[in-house]
Amino acid sequence: MSSTEEMIGRSDVNDLEAILAITNSDVDALVHQVQNHADAIFTWDYEKGARPALNKLYEKAKNAQWNGETDLDWSIDVDQEQVVLANAAANAGPALDLTGTCFESWGEKEWIQLGIESQNWTLSQFMHGEQGALICTAKIVETVPWIDAKYYASTQVMDEARHVEVFAKYLQDKLSGHYPVNAHLRMLLDDIIADSRWDMTYLGMQIMVEGLALAAFGFMHQMTTEPLLKQLLRYVMSDEARHVAFGVLSLKEYYAELSAAELRERQEFAFEAAVRMRDRFLQQEVWDRMGVPVKEAVSLVMLTPEQQMFQAMLFSKIVPNCKKLGLLDAADGWLRTKFTELGVIGFEDWVDTGSEYESFALTESDQRSA
Ligand SMILES: [Fe+2]
Ligand SMILES: [Fe+2]
Repeated sequence: MSSTEEMIGRSDVNDLEAILAITNSDVDALVHQVQNHADAIFTWDYEKGARPALNKLYEKAKNAQWNGETDLDWSIDVDQEQVVLANAAANAGPALDLTGTCFESWGEKEWIQLGIESQNWTLSQFMHGEQGALICTAKIVETVPWIDAKYYASTQVMDEARHVEVFAKYLQDKLSGHYPVNAHLRMLLDDIIADSRWDMTYLGMQIMVEGLALAAFGFMHQMTTEPLLKQLLRYVMSDEARHVAFGVLSLKEYYAELSAAELRERQEFAFEAAVRMRDRFLQQEVWDRMGVPVKEAVSLVMLTPEQQMFQAMLFSKIVPNCKKLGLLDAADGWLRTKFTELGVIGFEDWVDTGSEYESFALTESDQRSA
């Protein structure tokens, strides 16, 4: 069993100073290497459909492929400033009193620029996360011992290539700048990839990172007034819901065989991932680029009740899926306690993603609107 410090590098999960001290000091590097420590596993058992739920998912995936170049309407013009204003008008929250703070002198120009930087940052991090998914899923093709899972994972590799591609194209053609990978996100992706156990790739990527992505994409899909981004997210989410289901269905079977001590290791990994993802959403690089003191900005804006509710919402898929996998209550409810401390346990009875993907499937009208 590890201490909080051993798991996440600090004893207090909310230690803002320690969170902000982790930065990406390697922003000009073009490549990043991680040792993946895993054996490639052949199976000689080719019986297709031995795991019917995975087989069904695989058959669905084969028919749900789309083409980012031709199915999305790239002719839509994106005026970022207008998008910021329209989104603010559509989703206005209570005004903050910023008298006496680093934002006191800000006028409309600065707030619009913040909105633009936030878009650039958010879409950049989505793109980097998608590349993490591409690499993790290619690893699962190699490491998972079941043929139905290898088949399904191979379709997910194609899905993730498409996701990296469309986010990169959107950033390049429609937005106005890139951000390097956030250090908290990169630490998490590195930890997932470095683990030698095949199920840890699933837990880190399919359950935690993709569970969070599904919630975050859903939130953004709802909030954005920009039609191309809305359409892009709709398409990506139809795939992501399958990916999370792949994690739930595979781990449900595998975890049934694990000992309490082994489950505790999975709980710790899930907790570490949850903290890393929460930390990355403080968007520290944006405040830095806007030239305001990062700690003050984060304390003022990111710790408001609305923002905290948004951050909690990001866990609305993860918590019920962890419950379905038995991770909340194994080892005397260790993860339940941790998720309670993080303020996200309230989602435990929300719908899990074992079969929710059916409701995310693209309809004919989604495709016609392309
Ligand atoms: Fe993806
Ligand atoms: Fe995915």
